[in-house]
Amino acid sequence: MAFAYQAGVLCAEQASLEDIARSFGTPCYVYSRAVIEENCGRFARALAGRPALIAYSVKANSNLAILALMARLGTGFDIVSGGELARVLAAGGDARKVVFSGIGKGEAEIEQALRAGILCLNLESEAELERVDAVATRLGLRAPIAFRVNPDVDAKTHPYISTGLKDSKFGIAYADAERIYREAAGRRGIRVAGIGCHIGSQLTSAAPFIDAAARILALTERLQRGGITLSHIDLGGGFGIRYKDESPAPVAEFLDGALGVLAGRKETLIVDPGRSIVGDAGLLLTRIEYVKPGETKNFVIVDAAMNDLIRPALYDAWHEIKPVREAESGAAAGVYDVVGPVCESADFLARERRLAVRPGGLLAVMSAGAYCMVMSSNYNTRPRPAEVMVSGASASLIRERETVNQLFAAERILP
Ligand code: LLP
Repeated sequence: MAFAYQAGVLCAEQASLEDIARSFGTPCYVYSRAVIEENCGRFARALAGRPALIAYSVKANSNLAILALMARLGTGFDIVSGGELARVLAAGGDARKVVFSGIGKGEAEIEQALRAGILCLNLESEAELERVDAVATRLGLRAPIAFRVNPDVDAKTHPYISTGLKDSKFGIAYADAERIYREAAGRRGIRVAGIGCHIGSQLTSAAPFIDAAARILALTERLQRGGITLSHIDLGGGFGIRYKDESPAPVAEFLDGALGVLAGRKETLIVDPGRSIVGDAGLLLTRIEYVKPGETKNFVIVDAAMNDLIRPALYDAWHEIKPVREAESGAAAGVYDVVGPVCESADFLARERRLAVRPGGLLAVMSAGAYCMVMSSNYNTRPRPAEVMVSGASASLIRERETVNQLFAAERILP
């Protein structure tokens, strides 16, 4: 267990979270390198022996130390902006293993990606095809592209993170795909390289993923009959993790199912996992400022807030809260909402949790490695947290806590 109590104190690997709070302050994100490596290994093992690429989805957690770790493990990267491409390259990632997703790529981003020599741009509209063709032609290059096709399967996840249905803004319609591929194949600045889909995030059942694989394969075969051969099939990410009591199918079940569908095919299989690589590898460490009994509810006010971790406010997401001291002495046991100092009623990290708490005590918000630090903001002029990577007993700062001065250094007072 990467996050377990040792002598009554919650640890990340062999490092005590009390020591980490003392050294780096709170709030602070803490990641376990061993968990990231283990999660990555699960994909590598399931895909061994087959042409495949794990393209870590940078949006889940884009800290340079994490990207560098992934690059050393040999993964590729799924990016959604020129900014993410710059991060990947700064972290030592290989451009030739980068796929660029997203529905709104700007001209400068397309040029940046083509100059860097990325593996593929995943296009999501005919207008985007037009633009990529024009940029590539101007640069005297051929842009390697795939279309993200909307397979119209229900991922059965939260509506905000479900992306594979017909009314989704993502992807091109399944029924239009053959026509659009033919249109792409005839363009001077375009090299048709693959096909992709991504049906949603936090999938717990493998069935919709495998259905999507079958629909994408059927299309690939039709394209092939029409003379368009592809070198890769990208099935996206979305592999769920346990936050509370979900029992997500193991990664191997998703991948074995997809590999079964693709049996006998030569295309490289690409997957772009994000949450399943870093989600359970991180926690947010926060200190209790006040304990506030209320008329109908009790509150624990901590030094982390919705600006640091917005998932509960945004999706009503559930993150487990663990006390750093297993048995807090002098603590009042009760049922509490864990809330932050931000001036919004939606500023909560957890609701109605049974906890024994005391001011000055530490809490850990679990499974906070994915879509937490990356979605943080400076709302209420709150500097964003520090980030720390633990390996064994050693804890290293991988992002300094922001200072208040940095927050307004770019602003100008008019004369
Ligand atoms: N590939 C594509 C094309 C994607 O759009 C995404 C995520 C992924 C891969 C990675 O999905 P994952 O394996 O991490 O599920 N902020 C939300 C999640 C948004 C996911 C967006 N796309 C959350 O906090 O739950």
